Amino acid sequence: MTLSDPEVLISEADIQKRVRELASKISKDYENCGEVVMVGVLKGSFIFLADLSRQLTIPRVIEFIAVSSYGSGSRSSGAVRLVMDVRGNIEGKHVLIIEDIVDTGHTLNYLIGILESHGPASVKTCALVRKAERAEVDVDIDYLGFDIPDKWVVGYGLDYAEENRTLPYIGTITPLD
Ligand code: IMP
Ligand code: MG
Repeated sequence: MTLSDPEVLISEADIQKRVRELASKISKDYENCGEVVMVGVLKGSFIFLADLSRQLTIPRVIEFIAVSSYGSGSRSSGAVRLVMDVRGNIEGKHVLIIEDIVDTGHTLNYLIGILESHGPASVKTCALVRKAERAEVDVDIDYLGFDIPDKWVVGYGLDYAEENRTLPYIGTITPLD
């Protein structure tokens, strides 16, 4: 399939501004909570996590978790599967899940369950973007960057079949044929 060049939906400047705002809110909320474990969901969250974690003013450590819910394209397979769990011990710790995008909500919902099973002190969620119209399960996003329309987006960590992850902005793509 041929794809169009991405069209800018959220500019690099707008993303950076929002990341600073989220970091300042998170830093305030977790003040005096001790160390926060930021759990990045691979692969899509890696750029958001890198930028957000460096803006925080509270003690934090980084973990990663990997799930698979989609094939190589844009079609949801429905089921979510754990591919790699966190390595560190998160028992009794404050956990903040960092997601790139919440679409149907199944992935984030599943991740909350997995992380809660490790006995943390708390589990909260942070996502850069959400397609509110597509929600199939009701899942709380404690820190949200942007609500976006129901379009496939790429860039700032997000891909289409592994393409376009490293764009500095978030853009929409449309199949040309
Ligand atoms: P959910 O389980 O339907 O909420 O899907 C969440 C996952 O689907 C995200 O973590 C992404 O990996 C992927 N995803 C959903 N929509 C998009 C998109 O527009 N661009 C890139 N990845 C997406
Ligand atoms: Mg993801």
